[in-house]
This record gives sequence, C-alpha cells and structure tokens, in this order.
Amino acid sequence: MISSRTWTKELLRELIETHLGGVRFIVVSNREPHMHRYGEGGDLECIETTGGLATALRPILAATKGTWIAHGAGNADRDTADENGRLAVPPQNPSYTLRRVWLTPEQEEGYYYGFANEGLWPLCHIAFKRPVFRMANWESYREVNRLFAQAVIEEAGTSPAIIFIQDYHFCLLPRMLKELGHEKLVVAQFWHIPWPNPEMFRPCPWAQELVEGLLGNDLLGFHIQNHCQNFFETVDRSLEAMIDREGCQITRGGHVTSVRSFPISIDFEAAEALSSSAEVEAAMEKWRRRLRLGDRLLGVGIERLDYTKGIPERLRALDYFIETHPEWRGRFTFVQIAAPSRSHLPEYQAVEDEIEGLVDHLNWRWGRGGWQPVVFQKQQHGPVDMTALHRLCRFFIVNSLHDGMNLVAKEFAASRTDNDGVLILSRFTGAFRELDTALGVNPFAIHETANAIHQALTMEPEERGHRMKGMRQKVAYNNVYRWAGSILSQLLKLDIPETSHGS
Ligand code: G6P
Repeated sequence: MISSRTWTKELLRELIETHLGGVRFIVVSNREPHMHRYGEGGDLECIETTGGLATALRPILAATKGTWIAHGAGNADRDTADENGRLAVPPQNPSYTLRRVWLTPEQEEGYYYGFANEGLWPLCHIAFKRPVFRMANWESYREVNRLFAQAVIEEAGTSPAIIFIQDYHFCLLPRMLKELGHEKLVVAQFWHIPWPNPEMFRPCPWAQELVEGLLGNDLLGFHIQNHCQNFFETVDRSLEAMIDREGCQITRGGHVTSVRSFPISIDFEAAEALSSSAEVEAAMEKWRRRLRLGDRLLGVGIERLDYTKGIPERLRALDYFIETHPEWRGRFTFVQIAAPSRSHLPEYQAVEDEIEGLVDHLNWRWGRGGWQPVVFQKQQHGPVDMTALHRLCRFFIVNSLHDGMNLVAKEFAASRTDNDGVLILSRFTGAFRELDTALGVNPFAIHETANAIHQALTMEPEERGHRMKGMRQKVAYNNVYRWAGSILSQLLKLDIPETSHGS
C-alpha cells in the first residue's frame, strides 16, 4: 500500500477516505496542538505548539472527524473550551475537535515535570544526566495516564476507533485502554525519543510496568530500527514474552504488538514554499541589518533550550576553533537561538546558566572592535525568522548528544532551495541515518566539531551543492506524509473491527 511515489497530503487523504470509512481517529499527546493564553496586556492569543506533527495528523483528523486529546496547559484554555473541555480547531479553519484534559498543578508537577521529564527523558537520552525517580511522581504519572484513558473512552464512544498515542508521557495508557475499552479500539503509539539499551533502562524502578503498559499497543513505532532492537532487548530482559525479531512483533498473554520503525519528517513542500516567500526575503534583510553581517559568514544553531542538544559542547567547539584558527577572527558570526523549555526544572536552569556563562566568556575572550563571535537569543522565533536564518547561513549546527530524529536538521535542508549551506550533524541523531551527506560529528569530541566548522567555512561551492542536494532529495521523498501514511498502512494490516477498510 505504501507508494513509491512522493507522498502528499492528497495521497494521505485518499488512503484515509478509501480505507478508514466509519473509523474514528483519536490522537493523544501531552502537548496540545493549539494553546490559548492571555498575552501581555490581556489579549487572547492562540499558539500552535506541535508544529509538524499537527500538520501531518490534521488531514487524518479532518477526514475522520477525529479528536485530539491533550493537556490544557494555557492560562486561557478553560475560557476557550466548552464545559467538557472541547473546542473546534484549528481556530481559523475548524476541521476536528480538541478535547482538553485538566490537570491540577500537583498532577502536572509529578507526571509531566517529574516522572516524564526528570525520569524518562534523561533515562532514554543517555546525555549523562542522572534520571530522578520519586514514588510520588510515579503515582501522578499513573493517575494522569488513567485520566487520559477515561477521556479516550468518553471520546471514542462505542464506535470503532483508532487511538494514536504520542510519546513517553503515556507508557501506561495503551494497557489501560485495553483493560477499560471496548473491543473496537485499535491502539498505536509513536515513541518520539530514543529507546535506550536494557542496561540504561534498568535503573527505572518501574521498568517492567512501563514495558507492560506499552505492550498494550497493537502497533508501537520508533524512529529507527536500532530503537526497535533496543526495545526487543528490554522486553526480553524484563518479562515473559515471545519476541519475533524477524516478524517485528511481540506476543504477551495472547496479545500481539507490532514493533516497527517510521522515521518522522517534515512537510518538505510547505517548508520550500515558505523559504521562497517574500516574508522570508524581508526577514533575511532584517537579520542582516540586526547582526551587522556585512560580508561576514554566518553560522546558526536553533533548538529548544535542552541539555540533550549539546549547546555548551558547541560553544566550546567554537572557542577551540577561534583559538586554533586565528585567520577566522572577525570574519564570521554565530547566532544561537534557544527557545525556553521546561525551565522550571533544575537541570534546565543549570544548562541555561552554563550557556550564558560560555557565551559571555567567548565574547569577552575573542570580541574585538565591535565584533562579537556569538549572538545568543533565548527566545522562541516564528517560522519566518528561523527560515531566514537557514537561508542566510554558511553552516548550521545540530550537535545533539542524543536525539530520536531531529526535525530542525531536515527543516534546514528543505529551506536551502539554492542547494547551498553546510549542515554539521551529530552522528547520534536519528536524522543522520538519512542525512548522511551532512558533516557528521561526535558531539562529545569538541575538536571534531571545531574541525567541521573549519571545513564548512572553507568548503568549495560544488561540494556544498553536492552534499545539500543529497540531503534535500532524501527529505523530499521521506516527508511527513510518508511517515503518517506508513503508520496508517501498517495499522490497516491489523484487524480493525466493523469498518469498511479494504472495501
Ligand atoms: C520532544 C518530545 C515531544 C515534546 C517536545 C517539546 O520533541 O518528544 O513530546 O512535545 O519535545 O517538549 P515539551 O515538554 O515542551 O512538550
């Protein structure tokens, strides 16, 4: 069913209309696709928070009149939903329902900040941050998974439904759904972060419960095959189950879970179109002026402010590069954009302090006569501003210490319609499996990143073009519609009760 043609939004819609008649589609994620909040001055704002994921899932939700269930985290979320937490979205062009789940501050603290982000996040990323496991956080995590299970059952009613769960916030939900739900529920989950090897997973005191919960899924997706293998090994070490690695499935208590890789991606065509727009041209001009770029070359890094992203390592690499390559002093500028994230947690505050200290040090050590090597902006930027930076830069760095995929790298390639610009990419990202003509680096080896910066600044245009073309072809083909279409096609091979699928 998976076409060798390029997947498009229309092809995805065709697949849904032909095969999913009568099935409800319910997405579950912690982060809601549209958040309402009161801005400064009390104005009501609606922010799109899940970017590429929402773009890919919207056609499925729209065609099946589906529902997206998520935590209502905005301070105006209650005022903009009905008494059941429901509202039609996207606000400008409503096509599906958002059902918000309300959590108390204690629940959010224990489940989201605590178990998910102080426990599972460092556990799975292997970024050498010690995971924190507290009994109270685990209890909140269980409680919130149960709240979401109830919301799913309410939204699904008694009709056949596909439940598509996102990420590590909901390990227990699939099993709970199978226990509470009717027989017409097909449950799938996509794990957006890495799955570590069994030795790394072992410190979690509730490892077995987590794995048991995930095996409630009919389909479990990871970005790359290596994460599937790690999951098989973890199951093997944690409980009694029949593991069929060749057939990509695990059987436990008579229930079968298919485990497969589906590398997530972006809407390549939309990113290309944005990149060629007049707004982006104008934003490029604005950046040139703001940065007083002149004929200096530009390097850029853009991400959430997270310790897994390797920002301190990148700044150390820049420091080493400037030290060892005096001929480049004054001839380039590096812009680091970091969107504040989970800043309530001590590890996030610590990395922010470390980054600010390193930026000050670099600019103090190397700044001369109006030139400062690093411009650091701790704020969220919109797609136009970010695309403008993609287009302006000579090199773009993604040196995550570990990353499930990394869509920022793919966005950069999509923006470079001129087949120029160099991507420096951590070999420890899922994206490196596809973007293998990037300059690969071990992010822990400062000298490697420094060498890659030098290589990027001195690379001939033909080589830049050749490398960029290779990356762009991969992203154009493996776009986000292929990701969603492949998952749906796999789901359709499972037995979905009482639907017109296959007709
Ligand atoms: C990662 C996770 C997502 C999460 C995102 C932003 O990409 O895989 O599930 O939504 O980070 O983090 P936040 O905690 O702000 O939702």
